[in-house]
Amino acid sequence: MENTKIVINSKVNKKYASDLVVYCIGQKTKDKPHITKLQSEVLKKACDLGDFKGEENDVLLAYDQDNETETAGKRTIFIGVGKINKSIGDEELQEKMRIAGGNIAAFATKVKASKICVVPCEMPSKSALHTAVYGLTEGILLGDYSFKKYKTEKKGKERHKGIRELRIIAEENLQSLRRAITLAKTAAFSVCQARDMANEPGNSWTSESFARLAEELAEKYQLKCTVFDKKQLIKMQMGGILAVNKGSDIPPKLVVLEYHFSKKAKTLLLVGKGLTFDSGGISIKPAAGMEDMKYDMCGGAAVMAAMNVVGIEKPECNVIAIVPATDNMSGGAALKPGDVISHYNKITSEIINTDAEGRIILADALAYGIEKYTPDYVIDLATLTGAVIVGLGHHHTGLLCNDDKLADRLILAGKKCGEPLWRLPLGPDYKKQIDSKVADIKNTGGKAAGTITAAEYLHAFVGETPWAHLDIAGTAWGFTEKSYIPGGGPSGICVRTLVEFIRML
Ligand code: BES
Ligand code: MN
Ligand code: ZN
Repeated sequence: MENTKIVINSKVNKKYASDLVVYCIGQKTKDKPHITKLQSEVLKKACDLGDFKGEENDVLLAYDQDNETETAGKRTIFIGVGKINKSIGDEELQEKMRIAGGNIAAFATKVKASKICVVPCEMPSKSALHTAVYGLTEGILLGDYSFKKYKTEKKGKERHKGIRELRIIAEENLQSLRRAITLAKTAAFSVCQARDMANEPGNSWTSESFARLAEELAEKYQLKCTVFDKKQLIKMQMGGILAVNKGSDIPPKLVVLEYHFSKKAKTLLLVGKGLTFDSGGISIKPAAGMEDMKYDMCGGAAVMAAMNVVGIEKPECNVIAIVPATDNMSGGAALKPGDVISHYNKITSEIINTDAEGRIILADALAYGIEKYTPDYVIDLATLTGAVIVGLGHHHTGLLCNDDKLADRLILAGKKCGEPLWRLPLGPDYKKQIDSKVADIKNTGGKAAGTITAAEYLHAFVGETPWAHLDIAGTAWGFTEKSYIPGGGPSGICVRTLVEFIRML
């Protein structure tokens, strides 16, 4: 995917020898597709018969058209994108095109097309075309994703290696469209990077992997990277990360990656849960579905992927990323219910359930990051609670925030990229649920409002700094079924939301 070459051409041309030519077809009225004289007889016939309406997810395949444009590819498809008119909002248009892009990628995979040529539908304005090309490119690249690393290839049954060359056809506005393509490619590629990390099993992607990746990114983009190992974490009294790691044979890491723009600019601190496998620890999880807990590092992956974009785009703000990384195991020295631990900032915590480990490692990272960098905004991302799935299902990421402006900005950023957020409240009544008789706080707050009490635990470590917590347990995998989101596997959720947020800063 990284190697996908994307170019803009002014028209479909025989000499490109595409495996697949795609025409995106919007709807003018409710069920009448928009057809121009460029498009083929096959399409007209299909429309007359009502077989193709240009609706979202409509696909029509055509071969051997005796028409100048059609013969430029081995095959032609018409992809419906739904209703597009002058009053369409940017967000809606972009999402429609992303979905069309996902459908294009799925078809390309089906016919093993590696060179494809895409003609966007007619747009109501130049800026709409920019938005459309952004969405289309992003959707194609995100939809083209697959993870086959551990699948042995059978002889004579070679797999599709993905889209190698993508030509987008546009006659004008080239400068703006090139920019749209570059931005979309950067975002999509970084999302796929996050998906790759998440797809790696727990025996391959460890705390060490986060450290190595951060070092690579630092080298590639001249960022500052610091990896704190177990010895240093002991010295720093990072009692939370060390406590969760006690049952494991793999040492923990606290990975810090810094991008500095200028002293005067705003500073954003990103913290991602890098729990590389969550067995629950002594409060062990049931066996059914436990394998999915290799995805418990998706927050950390999203933060690293966002830093990849930061490294490329060099925004006009400072961005610091911190990933506390460990697994949660039940070895002989493991943390036990009833234990009392002391966090980095000396807040003490009574452990009720060792499976509520995410908040324990995030607490140290948040306290450290805020003390060290005095950020203007803090955003943490974590697959933190099963309760968020009960509340919001797989269609919204849970947002908990102590600052209305920050919350609104994040909701807007999420809306722009098809990653909806839903805000839940915080407050002293919820905080009470994590009062402990023996320590300052305890690590669970009972059955009620599990997502909120988890956030209140984190809240105790951020104080007044504007802070948003994104609970991605419901959306990091199994996210809303869409053409550009892999079914079942990791979605790379919130990478694009972060990117959008940073671009808006
Ligand atoms: N990583 C899990 C949360 C999770 C659950 C993510 C299901 C995705 C799907 C987290 O560490 C956890 O185990 N949370 C517990 C907290 C409880 C013990 C208070 C939970 O949600 O059950
Ligand atoms: Mn857990
Ligand atoms: Zn967990």
